[in-house]
Amino acid sequence: MTTTYAVLSEGLEKRFGTVRALRGLDLAVAEGTVCGLLGPNGAGKTTAVRLLTTLLRPDAGSARVAGHDLVREAAAVRRRIGVTGQYASVDGDLTGRQNLRLFARLHRVRDAAARADELLDRFGLADAADRPASTLSGGLRRRLDLAASLVRRPDVLFLDEPTTGLDPASRNRIWEAVRALKAEGTTVLLTTQYLEEADRLADDIALVDRGRVAHTGSPAELKALVGAYAEAVVADAAALGRAAAVLDRLTGAEPALDHERRTVGAVSTDPTLTLPRLVRELDAAGVPLADARLRPPTLDDVFLRLTDGGDSDNSNDSDDGKELVA
Ligand SMILES: Nc1ncnc2c1ncn2[C@@H]1O[C@H](COP(=O)(O)OP(=O)(O)O)[C@@H](O)[C@H]1O
Ligand SMILES: [Mg+2]
Repeated sequence: MTTTYAVLSEGLEKRFGTVRALRGLDLAVAEGTVCGLLGPNGAGKTTAVRLLTTLLRPDAGSARVAGHDLVREAAAVRRRIGVTGQYASVDGDLTGRQNLRLFARLHRVRDAAARADELLDRFGLADAADRPASTLSGGLRRRLDLAASLVRRPDVLFLDEPTTGLDPASRNRIWEAVRALKAEGTTVLLTTQYLEEADRLADDIALVDRGRVAHTGSPAELKALVGAYAEAVVADAAALGRAAAVLDRLTGAEPALDHERRTVGAVSTDPTLTLPRLVRELDAAGVPLADARLRPPTLDDVFLRLTDGGDSDNSNDSDDGKELVA
């Protein structure tokens, strides 16, 4: 069986003046899957979305989206995709229902009124139906924006940081919507700064660092690579060295010592490490414990592990222009 890709890009580049926002983005998103573009602020996620949705032209590289060439068949690409950005595209003066009807008419959907009502219902937008969009809460407005991008039933949906700034309940509703869309066969490419979000939603994660994909894999693969962050607080500073030796052995990584906080911590590469085992081993080594923790890796941990530092500031690229070779 061969895989069909809804998004396939090669070497996409984009500059803004001296800033190289994208420096050769290679991306493959299989049809019917959810791909999470995960990366910190400034990594190039929005630029990638703007390129792949034909809002910007690439300086170099090529891509096929929904079976069409991004540049030569831009109009065909636009007909097959939906996009919701960091900024809402709905009209603040119109009500939720009016906005959806307008979108439906613009896109020549046959029964615009019925489609609008269907989407209001589906996204729990009853409260937004008769109120001007500008008066809606952030969560409702984001959902309305998402509904608007689905008016035409796109094959590929692009969501740029769909839950940034939302409360947990609104975030959960967006997550449910993404899962439902995937179940219907829609391919979704979403960007996020949250490891948890990518973990919950994505079949595959592409880690974006300074305009490039630094790593790809399933959430499980990524987590197995990074593991958890293990930390122990000792009751007696004299035991810090002993605690470090235990962490070194259990995590396979060099622990960081904080003498002031009497804390030692390390990113574990062993996905089977549990808190009880950590405590047991520290006990067995005679370490007097004040506290022990095992927490999921943060985006920072992931970047420290899988990129060369996690510093995504690419505003100053004067010394690496020579990398730009085909
Ligand atoms: N229109 C623009 N003009 C100048 N620089 C831009 C523009 N858009 C993005 N950039 C720069 O490109 C880089 C990538 O930005 P962006 O794609 O928005 O990243 P992300 O969405 O991952 O936060 C950043 O350094 C950003 O400042
Ligand atoms: Mg962005």
